[in-house]
Amino acid sequence: MNSKKYVWHPYTQMREWKEFDIITKGDGMWLIDAKGNRLLDGVASMWCNVWGHSKKELVNAMIRQAKKLQHSSLFNLTNDQAESLAEKLVKISPGMNKVFYSDNGSTAMEVAVKMALQYWQNIGVKNKTKIVSLQNGYHGDTVGSMSLGYVPLFFSRFKKLLFPVIRTPTPEKYRIPKGFTFKEYQDFCINKIENIFSKNNDIAAFFMESGAQVAGGVVIYPQNFQKKISQLCKKYNVLFVLDEVATGFGRLGSFIEYQAQNSRPDIVTYGKMLTGGYLPLAVTLTNKRVYESFLGNYSEMRHFFHGHTFTGNPLACATALTNLGMYKKNKLISKIQTSAKQFESRISEINELNLVGDVRHKGMLMGIELVSDKKKKIAVKSDKSIYKKIFVEAKKHKLYLRTLDNIVMLVPPLAISKNELDFLLDGTIDTIKKVTKVI
Ligand SMILES: Cc1ncc(COP(=O)(O)O)c(C=O)c1O
Repeated sequence: MNSKKYVWHPYTQMREWKEFDIITKGDGMWLIDAKGNRLLDGVASMWCNVWGHSKKELVNAMIRQAKKLQHSSLFNLTNDQAESLAEKLVKISPGMNKVFYSDNGSTAMEVAVKMALQYWQNIGVKNKTKIVSLQNGYHGDTVGSMSLGYVPLFFSRFKKLLFPVIRTPTPEKYRIPKGFTFKEYQDFCINKIENIFSKNNDIAAFFMESGAQVAGGVVIYPQNFQKKISQLCKKYNVLFVLDEVATGFGRLGSFIEYQAQNSRPDIVTYGKMLTGGYLPLAVTLTNKRVYESFLGNYSEMRHFFHGHTFTGNPLACATALTNLGMYKKNKLISKIQTSAKQFESRISEINELNLVGDVRHKGMLMGIELVSDKKKKIAVKSDKSIYKKIFVEAKKHKLYLRTLDNIVMLVPPLAISKNELDFLLDGTIDTIKKVTKVI
């Protein structure tokens, strides 16, 4: 099998790669390639794996459901798995009332933005059409989600296609602008939002990731930041939309992150870990206020014009139900809190490495920022192809790592054991040390 012949890989300079390792098996926290080499999955197969690979309960749930019904549509029909999962999601998501299904995080965000804009039209407020979001946020790769979360490095080529969004600063602790303490900068960021809300009565919605910006470089929000924005949205009658695609269901040490943040969205999205990372599924939940605005006579055309072939796919929904049911049984959230301490205990050691400028961590998420000048905080340049160097070196330490430009991401499956997490942290430290010599 020639790995480079037909497949075009995401976010990859194909010319840089002679071939790709062909993964043929998963075994717990490990990925196994066609030659039998084992790699510890340090990024939970793009931040979605919860229990490790080939987990018996999830595989059995998939087999059971596949034998009954593999797919049936939600257009004019429903299915038992989509119904049960929606009920479960509404029950665990305070303030939420209805679930709209899609199959990846980007489309869940497309759904959210369309719902938010149509909501105001539905209730006869025609001027509320503007969107505000946080600088450095990331909400996916479709045109709408690129507009919401504009990462210049990723999306500048498509700028002309994107709809305008007002962006406000995120309180990043590592790079506080001159003249501010961190506390003052947080106040500045919040005041900026209040200023925009108070001077413009045409803001439809505020969008942000819940708990932390992940793809934007692992920026953990300071305490009460999300809560304050939630309160401002209520005060100025702006819809509050939270993206929990990457942070929902345990990544930051909480089950429902917006609840842990004492915030209350009108619309929230989940994805990634919803099925334990086994099948593509995402959801957009809304409160009653938003949902009911879409009700009316058919001829009013106020219903929601959106749907995908695999909306509410029963196989994915059955897997999600089994996955969510396993959290309590396995006391996963309290286990995550123990693992989080294990992460924490290594931060100063990592910080001391020559190439490391900053380590940002919460729960089962760690971002290690690599810099060429510690004092001046100058990021290692992308032309050094750091992501590839880290990947190649990490493999020698039996790790699968995928960095985000100059940020080494540690995002393991949530149920990783103590020994395996030590293996990941030890190997990452050795990898960074080795890469320092060749950069
Ligand atoms: C916060 C956030 N929102 C949305 C997405 C997009 O999800 P997907 O890759 O499933 O389209 C991601 C993906 O990383 C994400 O981190």
